[in-house]
Amino acid sequence: MNPIIAPSILSADFANLQRDIEMINRSQAGWIHIDVMDGMFVPNISLGIPVVSAIKKHTQKPLDVHLMIEKPERYISEFRDAGADHIIVHIEACPHLHRTLQQIKSVGCKAGVALNPHTSIILLENIIKEIDIVCVMSVNPGFGGQKFIDKTFEKVSRLKEMVVTNASKAVIEIDGGVSKDNAQKLIDRGADVLVAGSFIFNAENPEQLISELAQSLQY
Ligand code: DX5
Ligand code: ZN
Repeated sequence: MNPIIAPSILSADFANLQRDIEMINRSQAGWIHIDVMDGMFVPNISLGIPVVSAIKKHTQKPLDVHLMIEKPERYISEFRDAGADHIIVHIEACPHLHRTLQQIKSVGCKAGVALNPHTSIILLENIIKEIDIVCVMSVNPGFGGQKFIDKTFEKVSRLKEMVVTNASKAVIEIDGGVSKDNAQKLIDRGADVLVAGSFIFNAENPEQLISELAQSLQY
């Protein structure tokens, strides 16, 4: 597998979402990252189930749905029905994480777990083999365009070690403040998937930028 670029549509133009999804379709992006926020788990409110369905109609790329919501177990089937291929829940929002991951898999989606910047990867030790995607937040969730937290590099190295030691199939995704300045360094530490919002959508030519980034990255 080559490193995957997952544009975050949080930074897309919501009034021209179809245009932006079509741009992603033409690009070398592997997944489309969709940020769902409830104004409770995080301070912001973004988009919900109807928008995921609308996006699904215009793309074949896997939809990587990042739920920044409280009690995400309430909505797993709804997001699957809307077209989510991956459902990522926050460990901080899931007291029964093992059960929630089983629930996600039982509806046929890949199961992801996101960790806030302050959350230790040690909490994943007993469950790493059950996880398909670990999403390491490299900013505090809630907003696009924030500064990358450097501590993430060390966290990714240690997480990669845990994945390998446990023969887990989990892929490591990095979310927040990703740009060309940290992308290769993250891959070198063990990342597989880079989510990028503002870096891509603020570019003059986002499609070209995705290609350049995808082609520049190597394991
Ligand atoms: C932040 C979201 C991110 C966000 C990343 O809460 O989870 O996916 O869109 O945006 P950038 O790449 O601009 O930091
Ligand atoms: Zn996200």
